[in-house]
Amino acid sequence: MNGKRMTPVFGAMLLAAVLFGLGFAPGPGQSDKHPEVDFSVSCVECHRDATPEIVSQWKSSKHGLMNFACYMCHGDGKQEFSRRPGTERCQACHSALNVDFSRTPAKNCFDCHNGHTLKFHQ
Ligand code: HEC
Ligand code: HEC
Ligand code: HEC
Ligand code: HEC
Repeated sequence: MNGKRMTPVFGAMLLAAVLFGLGFAPGPGQSDKHPEVDFSVSCVECHRDATPEIVSQWKSSKHGLMNFACYMCHGDGKQEFSRRPGTERCQACHSALNVDFSRTPAKNCFDCHNGHTLKFHQ
């Protein structure tokens, strides 16, 4: 085995491990609890009544237009739920965006972007 040829393979394994690890790694709010509800109803369906404002903001955002739904950030509500999600999951799709957090007081994408409209808010 030669070191040069191992590197990409090892790199790919590392990447896979990282992606797997981050996939649904509990965010900072991992101990949050969603109210007891009937989860056979979809998040959007029930929240259309529970929090209509949020659903309409999300629906007209770029994520909503593509139907990247609530669980993408908040979890499934049962095994995993974050009231204020972390942004570990953003990089899977937004990897080209390399936000340098050391150059801003922001700690997290949501310090600048609203979670539902996605608009800059700070
Ligand atoms: C059958 C109804 C129902 C379903 C299904 C449902 N929710 Fe909720 N959800 C509620 C209600 C009611 C509240 C409390 C709203 C309030 O406090 O104004 C709530 C609260 C929340 C909150 C805020 C919690 C807090 O502590 O402030 C989030 C985030 C949330 N839901 C996300 C989801 C996600 C993600 C799903 C799907 C996995 C989901 N909900 C499914 C009814 C539902
Ligand atoms: C891109 C990530 C993202 C998606 C997708 C998302 N949310 Fe959120 N949501 C957030 C963030 C971040 C907060 C915390 C806002 C705060 O505390 O300032 C939040 C907070 C909430 C709250 C708590 C009330 C509030 O305003 O603080 C509810 C309820 C909620 N979301 C429901 C939903 C529902 C329903 C969906 C799907 C229609 C959804 N969210 C999709 C990021 C997201
Ligand atoms: C499943 C893939 C996916 C994930 C995961 C994802 N996004 Fe997105 N997001 C997109 C796509 C696709 C667009 C539209 C890109 C465009 O139009 O340039 C977008 C657009 C955005 C925009 C720009 C909205 C606008 O109006 O221009 C923001 C801000 C954003 N995402 C934030 C986030 C944050 C924060 C997270 C992490 C919680 C996240 N996204 C996770 C796919 C994703
Ligand atoms: C210091 C504030 C700040 C932070 C932190 C931040 N953004 Fe942004 N982002 C902006 C501003 C300002 C824009 C310009 C567009 C606007 O006005 O909404 C923008 C635009 C975007 C866009 C659309 C334009 C593009 O380049 O495709 C996406 C997607 C996006 N941000 C995703 C993210 C994600 C994901 C994170 C976390 C990794 C993040 N942002 C963190 C301030 C921030």
